[in-house]
Amino acid sequence: MTDLAAAEEFIELFHAENPNAGSVRDRIAWVRAEIDETGTYQHTEDELAFGARVAWRNSARCIGRLYWKSLRVRDLRSAEDASSVATHCAEHLRLATNKGKIRPLISVFAPDRPDAPGPRIYNDQLIRYAGYPEPDGSTVGDPQYTGFTKTVTAMGWQAPKSRGAFDVLPLLIETRDEGQLLFTLPRKVVKEVPLRHPEFDWFAELGLRWHAVPAISNMRLCIGGISYPAAPFNGWYMGTEIGARNLTDADRYDLLGVVADRLGLDRSDERTLWRDRAAVEINRAVLHSYAEDGVTITDHHTESHRFLAHVAKEGRAGRGCPADWSWIVPPMSGGLTPVFHRYYDDPETTGPQFVLDPESVQRGQHGGPRCFAEPERPRRDTAPVLVTGGSAG
Ligand code: ARG
Repeated sequence: MTDLAAAEEFIELFHAENPNAGSVRDRIAWVRAEIDETGTYQHTEDELAFGARVAWRNSARCIGRLYWKSLRVRDLRSAEDASSVATHCAEHLRLATNKGKIRPLISVFAPDRPDAPGPRIYNDQLIRYAGYPEPDGSTVGDPQYTGFTKTVTAMGWQAPKSRGAFDVLPLLIETRDEGQLLFTLPRKVVKEVPLRHPEFDWFAELGLRWHAVPAISNMRLCIGGISYPAAPFNGWYMGTEIGARNLTDADRYDLLGVVADRLGLDRSDERTLWRDRAAVEINRAVLHSYAEDGVTITDHHTESHRFLAHVAKEGRAGRGCPADWSWIVPPMSGGLTPVFHRYYDDPETTGPQFVLDPESVQRGQHGGPRCFAEPERPRRDTAPVLVTGGSAG
């Protein structure tokens, strides 16, 4: 049963910020009657789009919120079966990539209803790289996804013949009626950038690459008491996410040592700051390569200034800006950016939100546990189906 108070609070917010949307009292009366009758209510397209944008505006961990109003919203609430979800996810990537000029986009699939739960996407992002443990304890690929890779492999996914460090994982989608199914993304919707350095030719020899679009796919979109469990969304990358985390974290690609050696740095003593120097060069390579390939990316200095512009703008609109300092401050050169030198409003607990459930974290990393009981007649074709990109609306 949908919470009436949450519904009313959202409808009031929608009408307060959209004064031309008609009578708030009529709409609330309608919503109340619909909840009485069906146990839930349906958002109008405008409410859905507004709710999704405000969920971004409320994302305390996101430094990139200046453009929250420009989020494009695909209303895919009628897509309920796994294969149409997968097809629309491929189309999401094509539209979001936009040949490199990345568009912030969200695709909203069917909500949870009292009689029928919505679909679930297990992957934490639409594009993720497989991780393969090696006998010597090292990993080929992204160590964060060794569990997920193992699970989808057991389900019938076949890694490429020569396993690489950047093999794109299949989508793992579950619906109550169909159970769990795998879908391979068409190659052409996965834009990637080979990494090279503006000065050091050897950098390209490392064979590094990263994907253009970060599309988070395991967070629940909550608007006015309605929960949309599958609502993948994306912005564009800030370079440090790739250069100072994905490629450098010790439990990810862990490349600082490799790059420091190529730079000829003295690694015998921390005080040479070889880690910091290697990190800077990796981050230069990321920003340089994306820019040269015409793929939207931002740097942490520019984005910090934009974020403070956003905070000021929100203040002028009479709103606070909930923010989590430990996520807003970039993972390198924190003190060199203005976002470091102040504090922020505490994260919002009401209003539209993107919520990350602990089980969703598990599913994103390990490919389980499943959400629903196994269907009575499970589908036998567990091997991944190639979804057709570029055809769906
Ligand atoms: N940090 C994540 C990654 O490296 C992406 C999170 C969302 N980032 C964004 N720029 N919208 O893949």
